[in-house]
Formats: sequence, C-alpha cells, structure tokens
Amino acid sequence: MKKIGVLISGRGSNMVALADAVRDRRMADAEIAVVISNIASAGGVVKAQERGIATAVLDHRGKTREEHDRAMAAELRKHEVDLICLAGYMRLLSPWFIREFPYRILNIHPSLLPAFTGLNAQAQALEYGVKFSGCTVHFVDEELDHGAIIRQAVVPVLPQDDEHDLAERILVEEHKIYAEAVSLVLGGKYKIEGRRVLEATESL
Ligand code: GRF
Repeated sequence: MKKIGVLISGRGSNMVALADAVRDRRMADAEIAVVISNIASAGGVVKAQERGIATAVLDHRGKTREEHDRAMAAELRKHEVDLICLAGYMRLLSPWFIREFPYRILNIHPSLLPAFTGLNAQAQALEYGVKFSGCTVHFVDEELDHGAIIRQAVVPVLPQDDEHDLAERILVEEHKIYAEAVSLVLGGKYKIEGRRVLEATESL
C-alpha cells in the first residue's frame, strides 16, 4: 500500500478528488495517510476528517520557512508517506524540503505551464487574452511552478468568461489529471529524460 501525504491551505477540492480516486480504486493500491494544513480554518481539513483521513494543522507563523518545513517533514515521515501532493498549498517550500523528497513531491497548477506561473494564474490567462488555458501536474523542484510536467489538460477560454468561470472549467480538469498523475507516479510506469516524463505506454 502506497501512502500519500497531501498539503493544503484552503478548500481542498483537489485533495477530495484524490480521496475519491482512492475510494473508487482508480489509484494503484494507495491511500491518503495524512492531510496537513498550515491554516487551521481551511475547509479541506474538515473535508478530510469527514472522510476519516488523519489531519494535522501545522501553523507556519512564528517559524522560519525551513523550521516549518521540518515540522511538516516529521509529520509526513510519521505517516511513512511515499508521495507528497501539494493541493492548494499556498506557501513556497524551502530548498531543504524539496531536496529531502526528490521526485516525491507533486503540484497542481491552474495554467498550461510554463505560461502564467505564480498566483492568480486564471486571471493572468484572461488578461493575456489566450484562447486556451488549462492545468498542469508537475514534479516540484526548487523553482516555482517549474519541475518536469507529468500531465496537462486544455480548456477553452470563452468570450464571456470571468475569472471565476475559467477557474471552474479548469478545476474540473484538475480533479481528473491530478488523480491520473498520482496513479502514474505511484505505479512507477514512467521514466524521466531531462524534463520529459515518458509514460510506459509511450514506447519506453
Ligand atoms: C487549485 O486551482 C490549484 O490548481 C491551485 O490552488 C487551487 C486549490 O484548490 N494550486 P483546492 O484547494 O484544491 O480546491
């Protein structure tokens, strides 16, 4: 049984999507071992508890970034996690944390990377005027929204869209590709060549 640790700061809909994939056996023999939030009032904490998933609130305030990350690493190790999924975790991770878990941390970002990194990616896409946007699941490296790409999905940007409309359309795809990407990584049927993540189906 592979164990997943999920880091959140907010509503946790991607965490729920992963939990649903586990429940529906769409994920290769995996479970969510712990959900960690840096925000006590994050909606995702209650959603995890309702699903019987262990939760921990680790407040980042009053600590250095690395001190906080060391506390998170200790919690993740306690639960013996194999993979760490960032799901709306709104803090940068320290280089220390990222080096502790090489190719073991995934993130979901609501744009087609490398376009529109950082905050408010959907608003950035609207403002830029792109006709298509989407979402990306990638390995986390020491640069923001930068690591090797595992999955992407594309959605159209429609003329009448506001930020909320576009975010909703992207979110539907996020929930699909995050579970697929986690399943792929846990199953190990891929290899990495430079920045390219090649799935076993792509003639390894
Ligand atoms: C998602 O749009 C995700 O791509 C971004 O933050 C948002 C988190 O939403 N990183 P949720 O907390 O998973 O509902």
